[in-house]
Formats: sequence, structure tokens, C-alpha cells
Amino acid sequence: MITALVGAQWGDEGKGKVIDIMASKADVVVRATGGNNAGHTVVSGGKTYKLHLVPSGILYEGTVCCIGPGCVVDPLALLREMEEVEANGTALDGLRIDYRAHIVMPYHLLIDELSENAKGENGIGTTKKGIGPCYMDKAERVGIRFYDILHPDVFADKLKTNLAAKDKYIGGMFGYKNTALRRARLKFGEIFKAYTEAGKKLAKYAADTTVIAYDAHKEGKNVLFEGAQGTLLDLDMGTYPFVTSSHPVTGGFCVSGGIGPTFIGECIGIAKSYTTRVGKGPFPTELFDYTGDFIREAGFEYGTTTGRPRRCGWLDLVILRYAVRVNGLTGIALNKLDTLTGLKELKVCVGYDKNGEVITDFPADIHELEDCKPIYETLPGWTEDITAAKSLGDLPQAARDYLAFIEKHIGCKIKLVGVGPDRTQSFEA
Ligand code: GDP
Ligand code: IMO
Ligand code: MG
Repeated sequence: MITALVGAQWGDEGKGKVIDIMASKADVVVRATGGNNAGHTVVSGGKTYKLHLVPSGILYEGTVCCIGPGCVVDPLALLREMEEVEANGTALDGLRIDYRAHIVMPYHLLIDELSENAKGENGIGTTKKGIGPCYMDKAERVGIRFYDILHPDVFADKLKTNLAAKDKYIGGMFGYKNTALRRARLKFGEIFKAYTEAGKKLAKYAADTTVIAYDAHKEGKNVLFEGAQGTLLDLDMGTYPFVTSSHPVTGGFCVSGGIGPTFIGECIGIAKSYTTRVGKGPFPTELFDYTGDFIREAGFEYGTTTGRPRRCGWLDLVILRYAVRVNGLTGIALNKLDTLTGLKELKVCVGYDKNGEVITDFPADIHELEDCKPIYETLPGWTEDITAAKSLGDLPQAARDYLAFIEKHIGCKIKLVGVGPDRTQSFEA
């Protein structure tokens, strides 16, 4: 069976943890979108693994872990990550990288940084990993793919053309004061050497991952699609322009993972018991008070990739309902219930008040969203430590009521509850 695991909010919902748990029964794990802007945490046996491009199934020996066609790969960053993974005692034999994945080049990193800096306060708050500029080249059909860096002749031609174009673009867009920086970053010889050498090291992992996923499915094996980012960071469905440049929704797994929609058996949305976001953009239930700080500290809400403090707020069921709809969710994995322990009251956003009108569907444009004030219902909190809970029965009544309230309002079953970061701290509901 193919199971799609997708972020239901603005990313960092605990996807890494859930994928790791489910990967114990999976043969293949596929990342289909995004790059090393993602930061997925797996905690096992007291060790913390931070994965960016390597799929979160890698801790299980024998699991094939694919970096799929729609991913963007910074090969130098990937090699550094692979070294870290191996240094932690984990073998990489199962890793596969699709030929079609686009390569993040030094000029993408440079453009991402210059572009964010030039926008100043109006920036998106990207991770500065070159993700947007790499997807721009892909859409413009001038991108360099993993296949290319494995074939130096093809790569040399494409690199020359791209460097000439990028040099003009960067000079024109950001001014010639950046010339020194530009020259340092855009030298053909150095880039060609570094990337072909990276290609040589990565060549043994090259594959058509769409065949791997399909064959596994046909043989009745379990395949997991590992979402990166989250529904509200989707280029079309998210809070544009404060989004990433790929499609981190279940439909994205089909387009960018090369799997037909009818092959997907289950679509699980991963969510936190509250809401967070990193980077800029509207966030209706954001808290600027003591409670926001409490959640940030209790949930250790600091970016896995950038270390930035995450913005924190109450759970927003308008968002979760939207995620259920646009991803066709068949279930929810709700993480970080333990983080809410100790709060006297819990507010849950059930709709928006837009200048007197009640809105229950997530608005299509951020200008509409900016006018939306959350309509809250207040539920009692709990004080009991729930981090050792193994079933719903182990939770205090108030926590069970919180889950039941969510299910009722979003019309989707909570199938997994997370009560701590470790892979053992989750149970099926
Ligand atoms: P991802 O990007 O969706 O994989 O999520 P991140 O790894 O960026 O952020 C989630 C953070 O929450 C990580 O530090 C996880 O270890 C942690 N985490 C995941 N599930 C739980 C949970 O149920 N409780 C607590 N306290 N932490 C969790
Ligand atoms: P995981 O997989 C949270 C956000 C950035 C920024 C916007 C665009 O760990 O959930 P980009 O570098 O992609 O161009 O940045 O998207 N962003 C994430 N936020 N979790 C992520 O990944 C993210 N990946 C990108 O903060 O607002
Ligand atoms: Mg993350």
C-alpha cells in the first residue's frame, strides 16, 4: 500500500517522527518535493537525527529511501548530510536519488540571499538554501538535473550557458556592487570540478525512483511518501507569496513523485496540537503574549534548519479543515499534545470573523486572510504529565475532549497521537 504523509499546517509538524515510526513497516520511503529547506527530526534511543534531504526512513536497515524527481538537491549539502548520518552509525545503502531531481547551484544560493536581502522587511523569510531560484530555473527549463552532473559533457555545456546568464541577471538585478561576491561564487572551473566530483560520489545512488515506488507497490509492499514543508507553504494552496516553490500537498506526490493518484491508499495529514510558522506571512491565531512564549519553550519551537524561533499560536481548525479537503486526508497524526500540558485553558479557532462575516473556508488570498480575526472556543486544559501515555485511556479527560473536539470540527479521524519527540512517544488512537 502507498501511504502519503503530508504536513497539514506551515511545516515542522513532526513529519520526520511519524515517517520514522511508520517506516518500521515500510519497504520504500520517497521524498518527492522540496530540498534541504526541510528539517526533519527523528529521536531514537536518546539520539537526535536532523535530516534535511535524506528521507526519514533511513534509520531502518533495508528500507529504500528515495529522493524523488520533484526534489531539488544541493549535492554538496547532501554529501555533508550523508557524512553526518554515517558518522551516527547509519548505513546509506538504501539511498536512491532520481535522475530528474534538479540541482541547487551556487548561483541559486546567491540569488536567494541577495533577493531576500534586497526585499528587506518585505522578504519572504526563506531558508536561503537556493530553493526558489532552483525551481525558477526548472520552470524556465534551463535547470541542471542530477542526470547532468553524472555526465560531464552535458553538464559543462549547461553550466557555461547558465553562468553567463546568471552573471548578467545578478549584476542587473542586484547591482554591480556585488561583483566581487558574484565572481567568487560563479567561477566555471571551481563549480564544474566541485559538482562533477560530487556527481561521482553520488553516482552509485542514481536511480529512476518512480520505478522503485511502483514496483514495490505492485509487489504488495508498503511505500511511504514523505511530505516536506506543509499545505500552507504550497505554491498554489498556501499563503502566497509567503510559501515555498514546490507542491507539498498530496497531489504533489503524484506530480513530483511520479505515482498515479489511484495508487495512493491513505493520505495522513500531520499536524501539531497548536500552530507554528517560520518565516513571514499572515498567521491568524499567532500569540504575542506569555502563552506564545510558553508554547515556544515547552515545544522547543526553534527551526531545525535555520534555528530561527518559530512563531506560535493556537490550533486553527479552519486550516486543518482546509488541509483535509485539499489533500483528501483519510486521517490525522496529531503531534505535541504534551506541549499543551500546564495551560489552564486552550483556545481553538473554529472560524474567522471577517468584518462581521463568519468565514469557515480558508481564504484564497492573504489580503482576505489579513482581515480575518479568529473565532475561538475555549476548552479546559490539563496538568498531568502525558509523555508516557500509550493509549487514549492514559490521557486525562480534558486531553481526550480536546482530541474529540478537533475530530468533530474537521470531520477527520485522529489516527495517531504524539506525546513526546521520541519514536516511542506516540500511540494509535
Ligand atoms: P518536521 O519538519 O515536520 O519533521 O518537524 P521538525 O522536526 O522540524 O519539528 C518538530 C519538532 O517537534 C522536532 O523537534 C521533534 O523532535 C518534535 N516532536 C515531534 N513530535 C513531538 C511530540 O509529539 N511531542 C514533542 N514534545 N515533540 C515532538
Ligand atoms: P519542513 O519539511 C517550515 C518556509 C520558510 C519560508 C518559506 C519559503 O521541515 O516542515 P524556502 O526556503 O522554501 O524558499 O522558504 O517556506 N519553509 C519551511 N517552514 N518547515 C519547513 O520544512 C520549511 N521549508 C520552507 O521558512 O517561510
Ligand atoms: Mg522541520
